[in-house]
Amino acid sequence: MNAAPLGFFDSGVGGLTVVRAVQELLPAEDIVYLGDTARLPYGSKSPETIRQFADEDSRFLISRGVKAIVVACNTATAHALPGLREKYRLPILGVIDAGVDAALANPDAGRIGIIATRGTIRSHAYQHALALRRTGLIIHATAAPLLVPLVEEDWIDHPATEVVLRTYLDPLVERGIDTLMLACTHYPLLIPVLRKLLPADVSLIDSATTCAEHLQRELARLDLLAPGDREGGLEIHLTDLSEEFEALARRFLKKAPGRIHRAVLGS
Ligand code: DGL
Repeated sequence: MNAAPLGFFDSGVGGLTVVRAVQELLPAEDIVYLGDTARLPYGSKSPETIRQFADEDSRFLISRGVKAIVVACNTATAHALPGLREKYRLPILGVIDAGVDAALANPDAGRIGIIATRGTIRSHAYQHALALRRTGLIIHATAAPLLVPLVEEDWIDHPATEVVLRTYLDPLVERGIDTLMLACTHYPLLIPVLRKLLPADVSLIDSATTCAEHLQRELARLDLLAPGDREGGLEIHLTDLSEEFEALARRFLKKAPGRIHRAVLGS
């Protein structure tokens, strides 16, 4: 089982930020990635729809023989993780708990800002996970739906992105946040701009790095780490193939994605 691949899914190619972090930390692991590009975005859909999509995504990965699944999408983690864990017997990890643990590893973290899709914010998954772990936290959660399209357009350094970020973040900064949780797959790409816009003492927590570290601990605990000194492969499957997705995948992965396969779910 250790030699079996890890399965990742996301609504699109954003979850490749998590894959990139995992490849850096666990280079021997083979990875099968599913991006549900035909049905993105997930961030604006209802919880029922997200749960149905996440179930179909998981079944696709299980049919490829994966040893564990990473729900590399904040919105899908927020709505679907508990149901998937109940239904399937293999280890299934999300991106929320690891980020919350990382934020609270700082004993002084007390005023937490969260930016995410509407779906993630409305689910209250981050707010609950934080409040369960530490009492007395002051939490400010803001839906930031314009950020995904700006990142996908590669407008990272565009003045429009700075205006949008300031509009979302100024109220959080005014409330004195000490930590900002980047609760969406796309936001790690905004870190350089965020560092410029935010006061230097605000800690940034991104779900990609924290999830990779959590996955490493879990695989070690379950004795499921890939054997040996080898370089794992990456197989990308998308439910819709278009030229944009290939270019986007390259930006999220920071390298060529290799051959991308068309996935047909439910077959
Ligand atoms: N992957 C989604 C997330 O992390 C963002 C993109 C979408 O809305 O589908 O919440």
